Amino acid sequence: MRTLREIPPLRDTLAAFRRRGQRIALVPTMGNLHAGHLALVAEARQRADVVVATIFVNPLQFGAGEDLEAYPRTLAEDQAKLEAAGADLLFAPETPTIYPRGLAAQTRVCVPEVSEGLCGGDRPGHFDGVATVVTMLFNLVQPDVACFGEKDYQQLAVIRRLVEDLHLPVAVVGVPIVRAADGLALSSRNGYLDDAERAAAPALYRTLSELREALENGTDPDRLLPEGLARLRASGLAPDYLELRAADLSPLTATTRDAVLLAAARLGTTRLIDNLSLTLPR
Ligand code: PAF
Repeated sequence: MRTLREIPPLRDTLAAFRRRGQRIALVPTMGNLHAGHLALVAEARQRADVVVATIFVNPLQFGAGEDLEAYPRTLAEDQAKLEAAGADLLFAPETPTIYPRGLAAQTRVCVPEVSEGLCGGDRPGHFDGVATVVTMLFNLVQPDVACFGEKDYQQLAVIRRLVEDLHLPVAVVGVPIVRAADGLALSSRNGYLDDAERAAAPALYRTLSELREALENGTDPDRLLPEGLARLRASGLAPDYLELRAADLSPLTATTRDAVLLAAARLGTTRLIDNLSLTLPR
């Protein structure tokens, strides 16, 4: 697996793949890779001849006071994992390569509505930062297909909308959440948890699972969700939100069947997110 840091050799290498008629899959990441990322690479491997991974800790999607500086940078380990998982090429640019004019002067992509509320409510500008860098990576790599994790459910919805609205010729594939044995969704941020927090963290998935069962059995969400928030708090989590939405993240209506239960909660200074898809009864 080759690692490229600059745009011209990336373009040259990709042009050669394309001349040979090879299908290209993209797996964008911010590094500090875990089994969830490697599932994206495995999915990409199934869908294309060439798998291009990217590692870029995107400053545009971090808010003031978020963990941009502390975000783990583990390039050597990540390279070994990507190579073992079957990636062909790694693009790992430095920030000035992506944002040569600096962040303030950067042209941005904004995806309204689906970016609003949930994580977008707690992290203003976050999804503009994601949409901007993902659009740029799509333009740099011009993949046939791109794989994203379903753990970042709203991010995936934002990217699907962006591709639709801008008529981008890329197939977006969502890859199911990979969980630890106790149910905790794998995340680069889990590494911030101390032992006590790590022990408390599975309460997020456990609570979502209990709520899903009750909702599928017809319990009224208006009654259940406040109870779910109380259960999260009783487990030592500080919930930012717990919401039930239609699968496309539009508000729930009387006819919604395909739905998703989404939550974000803080444990100490670490913010965890999770979601479960479900089918509401008639
Ligand atoms: O999910 C992530 O790791 C990031 O948000 C992404 C999609 C690589 C954009 O920076």
